[in-house]
Amino acid sequence: MTMQQRKLGSTGIIVGEIGMGGMPLSVNGRPTEEDGIRTVHAALEQGITLFDTADSYCLNSTENGHNERLLAKALHNRPEVVIATKGGHIRPDGRWETDGRPEHLRQACEDSLRALGVEAITLYQFHRPDPKVPFAESVGTVAELQREGKIVHVGLSNVSVAQLEEAREIVTVASVQNRMNLFDHSSMAVLNRCEELGIAFLPYSPLNGMGNAHGIGSNEKLSRIARSYEASPQQIAIAWLLQLSPVILPIPGASKAVNIVNCAGASNLKLSDEDVAELNGIAAQITA
Ligand SMILES: NC(=O)c1ccc[n+]([C@@H]2O[C@H](COP(=O)([O-])OP(=O)(O)OC[C@H]3O[C@@H](n4cnc5c(N)ncnc54)[C@H](OP(=O)(O)O)[C@@H]3O)[C@@H](O)[C@H]2O)c1
Repeated sequence: MTMQQRKLGSTGIIVGEIGMGGMPLSVNGRPTEEDGIRTVHAALEQGITLFDTADSYCLNSTENGHNERLLAKALHNRPEVVIATKGGHIRPDGRWETDGRPEHLRQACEDSLRALGVEAITLYQFHRPDPKVPFAESVGTVAELQREGKIVHVGLSNVSVAQLEEAREIVTVASVQNRMNLFDHSSMAVLNRCEELGIAFLPYSPLNGMGNAHGIGSNEKLSRIARSYEASPQQIAIAWLLQLSPVILPIPGASKAVNIVNCAGASNLKLSDEDVAELNGIAAQITA
């Protein structure tokens, strides 16, 4: 079956309604480059055209841009594809730290342009507010990079509603990428605001994150519902996100081709209202 498509917020760009996160291809436990490229090509064959990456998806700062280079290599000459990258995290000795200083973001953007081999980045997301730098200063820098033609559309990641509103005073926000899945509804208010504004919402860790994704079927409700659709628990988790809002574009990460192919199968899966209501209750059950 062909994958359904959705608009990437107000950008006017149409992509497959399920995207792919590139992180597992470049961090600890990553596959060989050959196997990684095979996974990306398997995603493409399923109709996935939105690929999420970041300069910081690598083992450590000696190889910044690892994931951007891998995706660029696997996806060159594919005009239908959107590679959305991010800047604002650094990886000294493999740690995850933030750097939202204007000088860092300028350099990071230049490096991402080179890693992706493009003249302008279709969607550049400010990865995470840096507590050491005024948020407006970081967002202002990304807005300048857009005015200079290095970025086409600006996205945010890991933001609150208040930060989204602050950024909107500075720049047109095309997308927000926050953590959201069956087990974590903490960004629901941000999603609702995105829906009101027609901003794309990219839920990250849609399968509850790299360490948890394989085991989500241990949730009894989820596994029972999955069985009733002859689907995997991961497919149900993605179908639930798709039904949550028309502005959502889930970006499951995968290092193995078989897993991203399975995720793609969640397109066209229609959950009943009763099952959606039951799935809605899972997060409350976890936090209770
Ligand atoms: N903005 C941010 O701060 C932020 C933070 C985290 C992630 N992200 C982005 O969001 C993407 C997704 O999040 P994530 O990678 O953290 O977590 P996730 O998508 O919830 O889980 C990823 C894991 O799910 C497994 N998986 C995928 N499909 C599966 C299936 N059908 N059945 C069983 N297991 C399956 C993969 O295993 P295999 O590796 O074995 O295939 C992978 O390691 C990332 O890749 C990244 O692009 C952004």
